[in-house]
Amino acid sequence: MSDIIQLFQERGQGHVFTFFDDLNEDEQAGLIAQAEQIDLDEIEALVNDLIQTKGEGNDAIADELEPADFVPLPENGDPALWQEAVEKGESALRTGRVAAFTVAGGQGTRLGYDGPKGKFGVTPVLKASLFQVFAEKILASTRLYGPAIPWYVMTSIINHEATVEYFEANDYFGLSPEKVLFFSQGLMPAVDAEGKILLADKANIALSPDGHGGALRALVRSGSIREMEANGIDVISYFQVDNPLVRCIDPAFVGFHIMTNSELSSKMVPKAYAEEKVGVFCQKDGEALVVEYSDLPDKLATEVDDNGALRFRAGSIAIHIFNRAFVHRLGSGKDAAAKLPFHLAHKKVPYLATNGELQTPSEPNAYKFEMFVFDALPFAANPTIIETAREDDFSPVKNAEGIDSAQTCRDDQLRQFARWTAAAGITLNTDETGLPEISFEVSPLFADSADRFVERWNGLAEKPELTNGLVLI
Ligand code: UD1
Repeated sequence: MSDIIQLFQERGQGHVFTFFDDLNEDEQAGLIAQAEQIDLDEIEALVNDLIQTKGEGNDAIADELEPADFVPLPENGDPALWQEAVEKGESALRTGRVAAFTVAGGQGTRLGYDGPKGKFGVTPVLKASLFQVFAEKILASTRLYGPAIPWYVMTSIINHEATVEYFEANDYFGLSPEKVLFFSQGLMPAVDAEGKILLADKANIALSPDGHGGALRALVRSGSIREMEANGIDVISYFQVDNPLVRCIDPAFVGFHIMTNSELSSKMVPKAYAEEKVGVFCQKDGEALVVEYSDLPDKLATEVDDNGALRFRAGSIAIHIFNRAFVHRLGSGKDAAAKLPFHLAHKKVPYLATNGELQTPSEPNAYKFEMFVFDALPFAANPTIIETAREDDFSPVKNAEGIDSAQTCRDDQLRQFARWTAAAGITLNTDETGLPEISFEVSPLFADSADRFVERWNGLAEKPELTNGLVLI
């Protein structure tokens, strides 16, 4: 008997191999390979700590939380400091210290889109995909600053092949193929209430991605961190696949990160309303942390300060910059004191019962384990949080309809384009929210900021008429 089967039996997980003798050779090898990826000590500890002691803990935290400090926008703070940050950031970009990094391993269940979420078309006219928008923003920055900016894309077993094929089929959207680097994140098994690992079918364990926090391990395991070190990269600009408004490469943000000698920097926007589903930057015992919206007690979420503003208003929009050595420290697991915790999600997971029948539960029956990347914050030296304008950095596509949908994102892009044309002296007809009557599009390759738009527009020998369907490339 294979060692791994014996180990699983000794640890009370032998049922994973119930149908082993029914499998062909390839399937057997596949199941063994899946089992070998699972750290049974880790699973056992998680089951004990999270499932069996569920419901304890969180409330006590409320009294100890304080809002986190942040650097306000230049118009609310210190314009000279921002100018200095831009210069420092630009200089880091010119010397090739910066990589872009997208986490794109999620399942995109809420959007109801089949396939890698990054393929989803988001721009108003061309319906260019999220991946295309990011690629063109990175290409625009590369053209501006010189050295090609490498782009690391984290996928998962669910979408790795489809993601790579999509880039190949589209010639990497103008980027050099060797500068776009894909790696798959880790997987965790789903378990039942007793901590038994579930089977998806006779030959497969019910595995799912280990959360975007798995990015830190995966960056190390894939060799990406070593590669960055060899190439003189120490600044990792992190963003999620769902937000096409993000400035993938933002010199001011890079500059603040470097000036403050920060191991992990983050952007915040003031929350639009108390119930907004974004994590909130807080402080506890002098350490910064993000408290996820579902964990922030209502009392704190709705509390207002003397000016009537939300006291805990620093919303996390999941845009960060990581220091490379910091990722290595956390992702290598060598520093036992600096480990991302797992969070528990109670979900409906179809599974194969030991009698060989496939069960499709109508109620949550299983637990999944996920790490969140922002849980790295308390371990970071000199964490820096800067304010950003929501309209210039954040309009995610998360839902099929309503809030944070393709429609709201398209409208936010149009508002941004209309602000840029206004900066160049062309006033479009808009409604009271700034949404123009016409639908048009500015490719990141034409301009990716108001200043650059004005510069490019003024440089055009023949200026096109801004009509419905116009695309500026
Ligand atoms: C997330 C944040 C929330 C933040 C908000 C901003 C979490 C738990 N919460 O919410 O604090 O305010 O975004 O938009 O993240 N992903 C992976 N691998 C995984 C799981 C997710 O790569 O295993 C990626 C997804 O592809 C996506 C991103 O992580 O790019 C966000 O994941 P999602 O679960 O949609 O987070 P939200 O609940 O939207």
